[in-house]
Amino acid sequence: MTGKKPYYITTPLYYVNDKPHIGHAYTNILCDTIARFRRFEGRKVFFLTGTDEHGEKVDKTARKEGAETKEFVDRIVPRFKELWQKLGISYDHFIRTTDPYHRESVYALISKLEKQGDIYKGKYSGWYCTPCESFWIDSQLMEGKCPDCRREVSGIQEENYFFKMSKHQSWLIRHIREHPGFIQPEERRKEVLGFLERGLEDLCITRPRSRLSWGIPFPNSAEYVIYVWFDALTNYISAVGYGKDEEKFSQYWPADVHMVGKDIIRHHAVYWTIMLHALGLPQPATIFGHGWWTISGSKVSKSRGNIVDPAEVAKNFGVDTLRYYFLHEVTLGADGAYSESLLVERYNKHLADELGNLLQRVISMLQQYTNGVLPSFDKAGGSTSSIETEAKGLGVRLTTLVNKFRLREAVETIWNLIRVSNRYVDDMKPWAMAKDKAKEKELHFCLMSLAEGLRTIGMALAPFLPETSRSILEHLNITAEPNIKDLDSWWALKPGASVQKPRVLFPKMEMEGQPYG
Ligand code: MSP
Repeated sequence: MTGKKPYYITTPLYYVNDKPHIGHAYTNILCDTIARFRRFEGRKVFFLTGTDEHGEKVDKTARKEGAETKEFVDRIVPRFKELWQKLGISYDHFIRTTDPYHRESVYALISKLEKQGDIYKGKYSGWYCTPCESFWIDSQLMEGKCPDCRREVSGIQEENYFFKMSKHQSWLIRHIREHPGFIQPEERRKEVLGFLERGLEDLCITRPRSRLSWGIPFPNSAEYVIYVWFDALTNYISAVGYGKDEEKFSQYWPADVHMVGKDIIRHHAVYWTIMLHALGLPQPATIFGHGWWTISGSKVSKSRGNIVDPAEVAKNFGVDTLRYYFLHEVTLGADGAYSESLLVERYNKHLADELGNLLQRVISMLQQYTNGVLPSFDKAGGSTSSIETEAKGLGVRLTTLVNKFRLREAVETIWNLIRVSNRYVDDMKPWAMAKDKAKEKELHFCLMSLAEGLRTIGMALAPFLPETSRSILEHLNITAEPNIKDLDSWWALKPGASVQKPRVLFPKMEMEGQPYG
């Protein structure tokens, strides 16, 4: 355990206008993998997720359903929690923007900004995109439509409160330039700098209650509620005690990473960073904008009506299959075309034929040739196996990749070890050795090399495919919590220990998946 502060990682807060879809599951699986990896390194972690419950979009949906808004959100929130449980998302805290402690932190933040003279009342005249909950001025519209989602916007003219954002423009440009890892990936960093260089407006942070009553009331001004983004972004500090528990707050803040979809990079990289700067608080180390999952070229989203239910996918193919597909299929930051037939193809080729088959072969051979007991062997007598060579330095390599958010390559690195192990079986032909008593020493060395490889694979997979990892380690009767240090200790398995009967981890699947949506 290092003496460092807990590793603090966040997901966006999801709007509760409907049940979660695979886009939401993607962000949470990414964060879960990183959080698990940090724990695997022995680091204490604070992994935050939750729900964004105010704003026009949620309010409108509740009304359409003829429900009281609070009653409606109370009904939707458990669906998120249930999904995270089904997917094994190891979050440490779930924040709701309707939680009273969150409101107190928002008030502490506003009161500080007001005292500093950073909030003023002014006239707002512009456009509003309800699906994005975003304000736009004339020059920002694209062909009269929302520049983010290209949908219709509505004209608005009203008095509101504003946050003095524009004066921080040059500071932010400098901060981004001086901290290359701050906004990632590079494409998003360029996009944010481009946006900033076009000039910043002050941020309108309220809505007249006459138009929208569902929100946190603006302090000392009962005719207004707080703009949903201003409220929601504050969650990252309210969850760790901002304005209430300074000691706790200083233990957690700043966050190490805010993982967000590329659609909301600007809200985080511009609004949020400036809010923090105005409060005199340190910046998060990284804001990472991941890509979208699309179907037939369109972003998967409720309003486009092309949603895929992650619970169904997990039920039909397994949680780790979905995790594998998400982690392996795209480089973090890029978009991916969601395809169930590709998911099944990967399942059959990589999970069943490569990983599942390796486990099956190694454990069956141990059952058959050494009665399910790890054999004594001569370490010095055998040369270094290709598996040991491939496994060398695995922990360091994985750490380097995860530090750079290169999760796909991290998974590939483990798969290389799986492939090398399978090749080792093919090349060594233990079944032939088993027929020749004179080759017993060789056979035992070969089986132990394979078992060690399997142990290493099982350990290394823990942050990426936790259920699979557990199952592999169970076969070897290992119950200890995996730790990255275990990857450095080749020959950790004890001769004489028994292994379990082989179970099929990934039964082969038919290509025609069932339809979802
Ligand atoms: N409530 C805001 C975020 C506030 S954070 C303080 C919001 N909510 S959202 O529910 O609309 O979307 C949240 C996130 O879901 C997106 O940023 C993204 O992380 C994820 N995704 C939603 N659709 C997605 C895809 N089709 N693909 C990948 N992720 C996407 O924005």
